[in-house]
Amino acid sequence: MSEFVNIYKIDDNSLKNAKYYVTHNMLVAFPTETVYGLGCNALSDEAVKAVYAAKGRPSDNPLIVHLPTDCSYEDYVFDNPMAGDLRQAFLPGPLTLVYKSKNVVSPLVSCGLDTLAIRVPAHEGAQRFLRYVGIPIAAPSANVSKHVSPVTAMHVYRDFGSSIPMILDGGRCEGGIESTVLDVTGDVPVILRKGLVTAEMVKKVVGACVYAGDGSELSKRSPGTKYRHYCPKTETKLFERSQVNGALALYDDCVESGKTALIMCDSSVAKDISDKNVFDLGESGNVMANRLYYGLHEGEKYDLLIGIKFDVDDEVKLGVENRFLKAFG
Ligand code: TXA
Ligand code: MG
Repeated sequence: MSEFVNIYKIDDNSLKNAKYYVTHNMLVAFPTETVYGLGCNALSDEAVKAVYAAKGRPSDNPLIVHLPTDCSYEDYVFDNPMAGDLRQAFLPGPLTLVYKSKNVVSPLVSCGLDTLAIRVPAHEGAQRFLRYVGIPIAAPSANVSKHVSPVTAMHVYRDFGSSIPMILDGGRCEGGIESTVLDVTGDVPVILRKGLVTAEMVKKVVGACVYAGDGSELSKRSPGTKYRHYCPKTETKLFERSQVNGALALYDDCVESGKTALIMCDSSVAKDISDKNVFDLGESGNVMANRLYYGLHEGEKYDLLIGIKFDVDDEVKLGVENRFLKAFG
């Protein structure tokens, strides 16, 4: 018996149903330019609870509210000129801003914090969905807690099946890693989660920006960063860039014992080992971001996923490396 597949292309019909679901506090997964989101009505405690329950997400890890481009920030948060300049430069796009909240949405969205994270995604399908439903949508990445974030509708389906009523299909996500989370509540903006918008890019617009290192005092402003994330559902093993021979020996052992293995590495390594099963992450930070989660999902089709570390020579790679290391935990 074939299972009912709840993946829909984005059109007036699916959007009408999506609106029905979210206004009745059910969950709808939708594409963004970073990763897929699991959307719910941010105004409803019941809907927000349903998202936490579906993901198995710790209740102290706050959610991002997603809004259409023509939204009014003042309805939800206390705005400031620095945030305005950053929105002008980067939105719509892969940047989430953390503001002082006006406590209009469900308090469960921010887990009792006095701040609210808002994101205006650039993806056309996301914008159509957000405009059509007309309510603020709280959405974590559409993966079960700790699993790799989804970059295709099928990745979402593999985690949730038909336990959610609808997955809107907007193709493969271009950005490939989650948005940069930037706290703009103080004088200097603080990057709580690294992403495609880097400190250097922020500095060019507002003159200053710092990274909150993992585990630091500043990072405590973003409770999500303390949890293990991005784990593929297969055995993993990580090697230094200087230990490629060790990685190849393990690969050969694995294959000789009748199992399958995949090596994930950047192009500088991949070009020399093309006779193996290789997932080439590419060279530049943006290409590596685009490929990382897709590759981790591909890796789940193998018995063993072998990662080889790469040099971080551009700022976007900081965000890629952070997730890569967590995935290989
Ligand atoms: O690209 C993205 O941001 C995706 C797509 C779907 O928009 N969403 C996403 O959501 O990655 P999630 O829930 O997986 O990650 C949200 C991150 C967490 O690290 C959380 O701690 C942080 O945002 N966050 C949310 N609200 C916050 C707040 N008020 N203060 C500080 N950090 C916050
Ligand atoms: Mg997530």
